[in-house]
Amino acid sequence: MNKTNNIFSEFDRMLGRDAKESQLEQKGHVFWLFGLSGSGKSTIADAVERSLVAKGHYVKLLDGDNIRTGLNKDLSFTDEDRAENIRRISEVARLFLDAGFIVITSFISPLRKYRELAETIIGKSDFTKVYINASFSKCTERDVKGLYAKAKEGDVPNFTGKDSLFEAPNDSDEDWILDTEQFTANESTQDLLNKILPIIKKT
Ligand code: ADX
Repeated sequence: MNKTNNIFSEFDRMLGRDAKESQLEQKGHVFWLFGLSGSGKSTIADAVERSLVAKGHYVKLLDGDNIRTGLNKDLSFTDEDRAENIRRISEVARLFLDAGFIVITSFISPLRKYRELAETIIGKSDFTKVYINASFSKCTERDVKGLYAKAKEGDVPNFTGKDSLFEAPNDSDEDWILDTEQFTANESTQDLLNKILPIIKKT
């Protein structure tokens, strides 16, 4: 039997998102940052959140390493668990979106099908993917967390980009792209902010 058979959701009767957005004077949206570990996702996401909050916006940042110590601490890095990781995060993002928030997520989201799942759960018009582009060799060079060195020794199972696939977007994807090899974190943050601000403006 389907587990939701005897559940009677009341989304339609509940106070709508529009009322909350009016009060918060912003339009909710999910900005889905993705890219290799060490590409700069968390740094940029953190800086963007701070700038938006300083401008008076209501923002929720969801970050891989944090969520994986709480809500998703039961999940590993197999394909199946990564899909479940992204599914749960997407549902959480949607809850914040329903409350009128701007949501910034920072997860590797290595496969296109995971990103598509997130878009399906959140809804295309409320969802923008942002590819934080840095190559495996650049991330190995940076290795802020020491994970690339550990993975080289074979001590990180299913390490993304090594034994677990990362699918970069191709030309037909409509993703925004920030190149952190070419630009500094500050420049990428400013670039992203400039793109975000018109979208979250309440009309
Ligand atoms: S995702 O693939 O499911 O989207 P997520 O963003 O939640 O990954 O978690 C990535 C973080 O977990 C990395 O930034 C890194 O610190 C840590 N990590 C631990 N094991 C792995 C691994 N096998 N592959 C990639 N990242 C890992």
